[in-house]
Amino acid sequence: MEKIVINGGAPLNGSITIGGMKNAALPVIFASILVEDKCVIENLPNVSDVTRSLEILEAMGAVVERRADGSVSIDTTIINQGSSPAEIVGKLRASTYLLGAELARFGKARVGWPGGCDFGIRPIDQHEKGFERLGATVSRDKGAICLDAGDAGLCGNSVYLDFASVGATINVMLAAAKAKGKTIIDNAAREPHIVAVASFLNACGAKIFGAGTSIIKIEGVEELHGCNYAIIPDMIEAGTYMVAAAAAGGSVEIKNVIPKHLETVTSKLREMGVDVDEYDDSVVVSRAPETKMEPVNIKTLPYPGFPTDMHPQFAAILTIVDGTSKVTEGVWDNRFRYTDQLRRMGANISIAGKTAIIDGVEKLHGTTTTSVDLRGGAAVVIAALAAEGKTEIGSIQTLKRGYDDLVGKLKAVGADIEIIITDDDE
Ligand code: EPZ
Repeated sequence: MEKIVINGGAPLNGSITIGGMKNAALPVIFASILVEDKCVIENLPNVSDVTRSLEILEAMGAVVERRADGSVSIDTTIINQGSSPAEIVGKLRASTYLLGAELARFGKARVGWPGGCDFGIRPIDQHEKGFERLGATVSRDKGAICLDAGDAGLCGNSVYLDFASVGATINVMLAAAKAKGKTIIDNAAREPHIVAVASFLNACGAKIFGAGTSIIKIEGVEELHGCNYAIIPDMIEAGTYMVAAAAAGGSVEIKNVIPKHLETVTSKLREMGVDVDEYDDSVVVSRAPETKMEPVNIKTLPYPGFPTDMHPQFAAILTIVDGTSKVTEGVWDNRFRYTDQLRRMGANISIAGKTAIIDGVEKLHGTTTTSVDLRGGAAVVIAALAAEGKTEIGSIQTLKRGYDDLVGKLKAVGADIEIIITDDDE
């Protein structure tokens, strides 16, 4: 099995270029099912969730061409409804977007149960509520989720989301794009990737207004056409390297970012006493190794609140900040599994309800650890960069789901990090 090995203590200096946003790329890939034409998508990140999503489309009959310039053309003129391979679908949460896409194109959908990081229950009741409001019936068949818009087809309607769910907002947008009449999504999620999916669909001829606000209006259209579209930079990848630079000390330029998307991360790091300089499409994070950081409290919320996908990374750096910090998880039922791995390294973390109470220690120490999920693995990498001694990180396939060349990017700025092949099966 592959493992990441990090010898901690080296400051980071240099620059890291950020790739396309995983959580924008995945819904755009599945949204291409609505188009029945060829789309060219640029700046797709080279991560396994993207690879798997393209494999699902190919298995359904789409023609996918990976081009020399890194762009990918996806021709969905031919797609066989209900034919997504359950064994791949079950490996990623983004498979849920097949529901809205198939329903919009065919008037029905049949998709196996999706996968994704284990944060406790990950229901799809808000997705199903949206589909029902548009006139579809929801049923199960041998564990698969089935939707049917019947002879009447989908009709626009008002949809109120009980939680500003990213997935449900995107799925209702997909289903409504070709529904008859107007749909209004109230309490919609406002993340940048919602805006990205809406702008992709509008580039294909859809009529979606208000994405990025909590009220999205969609006027259904008869058909969509192909387009060329570039994926926005990944704000979570960028935030991860910003925190890594702060934890290790040094000065790192993070290139190809949209600073506005990083506002909460930037302000928290500044609150901790870390220097963050913003430029048009980059930020520079600097901390002299001897500069002490201040404890802070964090509460994750839907955008524009503090992003839940940056919670584990901040918890990692706060384990070595003198004083008591608190991280309250406001989005997921249980996103604290990674804390066991930080405790193995000497972190002092206790969990009270949905809050991690972190009492900073002088130093963490390297040991054997595992990446329990995508951002939990990133947290262990950050902790290991600042720890004394060697840390081995197993199950790194979870990291490859969302980080393109993490080891190469960190090695290029001075981290003592490599991937080794071991014969143990962990
Ligand atoms: C997306 O998941 C992201 N994944 C997650 O990122 C991210 O943590 C999350 O949005 C929140 O920002 C992808 O985009 C592939 P939600 P999603 O629907 O859409 C509850 C990463 O690290 N809920 O906004 O599944 C749900 O249980 C991953 O890149 C319902 O109750 O998130 C959760 O408590 C991890 N019913 C909350 O809403 C529903 O029908 C947020 O879920 C749907 C969601």
